[in-house]
Amino acid sequence: MIVATVVGARPQFIKAAPVSVALRRQAREILVHTGQHYDDMMSDVFFREMALPAPNYHLGVGSASHGRQTGEMLAAVEEVLLAERPHAVLVYGDTNSTLAGALAAAKLHIPVAHVEAGMRSFDKSMPEEINRVLTDHVSTLLLCPTETAVRNLAAEGLRDGVHHVGDVMYDALLRFLPLAHVHSRVLDDLGLAPGGYVVATVHRAANADDPQRLASIICGLGGLDWPTVFPVHPRTARALAAAGSVVPPTVRAIEPLGYLDMLRLEEQARLIVTDSGGVQKEAYMLGVPCLTLREETEWPETVAAGWNCLVGAEAERLVAAARSLAPPSERPPLFGDGVAAERAASLILTMTQHQERKTTCD
Ligand code: UD1
Ligand code: UDP
Repeated sequence: MIVATVVGARPQFIKAAPVSVALRRQAREILVHTGQHYDDMMSDVFFREMALPAPNYHLGVGSASHGRQTGEMLAAVEEVLLAERPHAVLVYGDTNSTLAGALAAAKLHIPVAHVEAGMRSFDKSMPEEINRVLTDHVSTLLLCPTETAVRNLAAEGLRDGVHHVGDVMYDALLRFLPLAHVHSRVLDDLGLAPGGYVVATVHRAANADDPQRLASIICGLGGLDWPTVFPVHPRTARALAAAGSVVPPTVRAIEPLGYLDMLRLEEQARLIVTDSGGVQKEAYMLGVPCLTLREETEWPETVAAGWNCLVGAEAERLVAAARSLAPPSERPPLFGDGVAAERAASLILTMTQHQERKTTCD
């Protein structure tokens, strides 16, 4: 069996790490890196820390407008698929790399397996929502992290090939948190006391590319009762520089972190403030209260459980919620049992067993 995995952005390297191990026990995996993320601390650091195999193909697409970036990836992934003729293509999440990988495969009649299928914000102005909906509708195997995702797909008429496997990010966290305990020096390096700081991340286009929203978020972070560590995504760094923004003295803006340092920093934080999907989930998994800088979330279970609160981008709302958020003592398991990757790999192999390798693009 040959499975071509298409990744390109930071969270996809993290999701791919546990699945790749499970898959490689029984199949040949061809790893394709689109090059969507390319800075060392947005890409290579994850391959080093998580011992991900080096990509078989690096497409080097880089940053561009949505259409150009997705189009260049589509053409380049198609070439790889025609050369390698895999039995299946595996994609993760909701980035432009996800859509390009799924579309290139579907057009060649190669079955697509989508890990993190069924997530919905119901906000079509998000580029990710377009990517997810389209990817799900061309996928053969829809591997859902939550029951909510299964219901979302059913509401769109997608029932065949839908499986609730759990969340592979939970598998990754269980595997790498012990390594973070051994290797990460981030608290000492930043002079932080456990429980005495906030971690913030901001990168959604709706926040980073809107100067007013971004300024309001930064102002809110400056108004928190604890110092804030802010690993800055390159999109946000660019936006802050363009606006000539000066962050308040209690907000420490730093370069993006590797996964081990990020896990350690999150685990010991008093509070997490984020617009990231993955970071919202990790906050819940680690038992750290979370404020989400959006009006909706793909992970509503974390809000219903009382551990996550949607605060939008208003400074006052953010500061008030930081003071009032009081999660309950219960934290029911929402993201599976830590073997989602094994389940996903088995389902992919079962799907490909009777699949012929495609030779043409007719
Ligand atoms: C992308 C995904 C988003 C995901 C995020 C994870 C899409 C539409 N968006 O958003 O769903 O949550 O990745 O982090 O696919 N840049 C660099 N160096 C890099 C990468 C990016 O400087 O290594 C800068 C460039 O100026 C680029 C900008 O960041 O234009 C945005 O990068 P891009 O990959 O287009 O989108 P993200 O905001 O990273
Ligand atoms: N992450 C990281 N370093 C950082 C910020 C985030 O390793 O400086 C990790 C984080 O722990 C999570 C993943 O990146 O596992 C989330 O990715 P991101 O926020 O970029 O994207 P999203 O999940 O919103 O798609």
